[in-house]
Amino acid sequence: MSKNEQPIGFIDSGVGGLTVLKEALKQLPNENVIYLGDNARCPYGPRPKEQILAFTWQLTKFLLEKNIKMLVIACNTATAVALDEIKEKLPIPVVGVILPGARAAVKATKTNKIGIIGTQGTIQSASYETALRLKVPEIQPFSLACPRFVPIVESNQVRSSVAKKIVAETLLPMQRAKVDTLILGCTHYPLLRPLIQSVMGEKVTLIDSGVETIGEVSMLLDYFDIAHLPVNHQPIREFYTTGSVDAFNQIARTWLEKPEINAKHIKIKGA
Ligand code: DGL
Repeated sequence: MSKNEQPIGFIDSGVGGLTVLKEALKQLPNENVIYLGDNARCPYGPRPKEQILAFTWQLTKFLLEKNIKMLVIACNTATAVALDEIKEKLPIPVVGVILPGARAAVKATKTNKIGIIGTQGTIQSASYETALRLKVPEIQPFSLACPRFVPIVESNQVRSSVAKKIVAETLLPMQRAKVDTLILGCTHYPLLRPLIQSVMGEKVTLIDSGVETIGEVSMLLDYFDIAHLPVNHQPIREFYTTGSVDAFNQIARTWLEKPEINAKHIKIKGA
């Protein structure tokens, strides 16, 4: 297999990274892709840093054995904790989701008031605030951890009345902060996008860091000359989960509009 044909690997704590993968399938349909969700140990958000780092390495090693040419850490929490170390140690390009999201928010804001919502881990790391202020020191970031959002997504309840209530209650402080741009700083959150947009109002620009990340992936594929050229057979789409295959398939098939998805269960030590 030539470098160009090797797959791109995507990892997340669960189904959130599918929002990044969805964009990859749209922008880079020729690429072979492998996705691994650590649903058995989701959420990562409230976990200690050392644990998130160890889990992220386990997922990375699984995909390295699949001979990936690039790794996308499609999880903000894992990006905040593990990106620097993994990037330094791997011989292939490694892309996280935080910098692309920060760049897009800087581009979108008119008032410099940017909101960030994410897991406890991501918000405590202040990675978005740092990235935003390094770009434009005048930016006034307002951060809010939303620990109740990921369980709604993982349990496939995004259309429930409970979800509506939780999103409205949680985002109250963000509404008061009068931001003009809001970063969805967790890859699970785009699945709640209609609810978040309706609470924040149509005038607030929502930034999907996953969408922005694929722009960077596309650029790096061209830069390193490792993009996959069009072929006349179906590219590889492999899905793995450490959790329930049925629960994963249900969300993945609907979100990606691909009824043929059939994830495989894998056992990772400790998961
Ligand atoms: N999807 C993840 C993120 O972007 C993590 C959610 C979680 O496991 O807490 O942060």
